[in-house]
Amino acid sequence: MNELESVAGTKPFWLRGNLAPVAEEVTAFDLPVEGAIPPVLRGLYARNGANPRQGHSGHWFFGDGMLHGVSLRNGRAEWYRNCWIRTPQYDGAERNPGAFDVRSSTANTNVISHAGRIMALVENALPMIMNRELGTVGFHDYDGKLNTPFTAHPKVCPMSGELHFFGYGFRPPFLTYHVADAAGTLVRSIEIPVRASTMVHDFALTSGHVVFMDLPVVFDLPTAQRGTMPFAWSDSYGARLGILPRGAGLESLRWVEIEPGYVFHVANAFEEADGTIVVDVAWYNELWRGGPSATHFDKATLKRWRIPPGASKAQEQQLDDRSIEFPRIDDRLAGLRHNIVYSVDSGTDLASERYTTVRKYELTSGSSTAHDFGTGLPSEFTYIPSEGARGEDHGWLIGFVYDRTRSTSDLMILDAQKIEGKPVARIQLPRRVPQGFHGNWIPDAR
Ligand SMILES: [Fe+2]
Repeated sequence: MNELESVAGTKPFWLRGNLAPVAEEVTAFDLPVEGAIPPVLRGLYARNGANPRQGHSGHWFFGDGMLHGVSLRNGRAEWYRNCWIRTPQYDGAERNPGAFDVRSSTANTNVISHAGRIMALVENALPMIMNRELGTVGFHDYDGKLNTPFTAHPKVCPMSGELHFFGYGFRPPFLTYHVADAAGTLVRSIEIPVRASTMVHDFALTSGHVVFMDLPVVFDLPTAQRGTMPFAWSDSYGARLGILPRGAGLESLRWVEIEPGYVFHVANAFEEADGTIVVDVAWYNELWRGGPSATHFDKATLKRWRIPPGASKAQEQQLDDRSIEFPRIDDRLAGLRHNIVYSVDSGTDLASERYTTVRKYELTSGSSTAHDFGTGLPSEFTYIPSEGARGEDHGWLIGFVYDRTRSTSDLMILDAQKIEGKPVARIQLPRRVPQGFHGNWIPDAR
């Protein structure tokens, strides 16, 4: 039992219920389907998450990465498979977050595709290249050019095909911004000067700018010594956004003050005609005071920052008072104006597992609709656009749902135009899929 377990007097939340890891790798073919998988969906839905091989870990974010994937073709669910990502840690290397080693990785947070490479990501390490069958290929360091960690939340610019990303670390350079071109060549790396090592989980991209978040969840040695995520809330650090025109040098970087709080996830950002930058985020009023908790996770709500040209302080607007997480959009609009945000209602908090609902916000009207899975516990849902369709909801939402009554999981496909309706397809999986982090739809090349 580690320290956090003994403090809580029980297992920490990430080892209980459907957050608990699964012990085996499983493959199943030709899965039973209720409803009909749209035949135009040809590709792989893959989702990453922490699944400690030894059955325990010091924090939810520390477990070995495991991918769960379902291959869809011709209206069939060809296969389901779950695979641990073969990192040095999985193979027995000691995890040492303080070692500043970009090959000390769990690869457990996200899985994306760019320039023909499927990459499993965790924010303290290099990307890990995977194949379509969820096999591990190896670390990717951009021909030796990348020597910082790589965020789990890079952005693909729909206009240029570039991949914008950053890395943060415990020692200088604390924050570095990178761009890979559409062919997957690293073409730009620039250090963003910040005062300390803070936890930087995400950032924002618009058509003309990148926005970095410098927030008061700061590296904390006593917290690190507890063997948990080494960050804690700071009342004194302050909070600000760093705004850099894309392609410009540091002389163009400006900082804008915001209310102190924390953001794991940016839904999207865009620019209005007068140059005002708009950023929609899942907002925590405070996070990890005294360090991370083993019994609960703080709550987030949807919030908007508006930053007019020349402003020294952002305008802040609460968009809703429901607790949500895992905000997603139509990724073809990354950095462009969006109206719809998809998310998961997180109820009391993500650790409670008392949430059943996927929500669709329509921001211009201020309304939302939802799909309540009843006895089901949804993970993140990802939007898949219908080919050729322009609307932000002319497509489907896809994600895993754990059914408490059957102790197993389904891959659900919802009609994004009418998410409250009966699922388009329920793909029955041969086992439960633990609550994880992030997934994406990786369409087959045509
Ligand atoms: Fe994330």
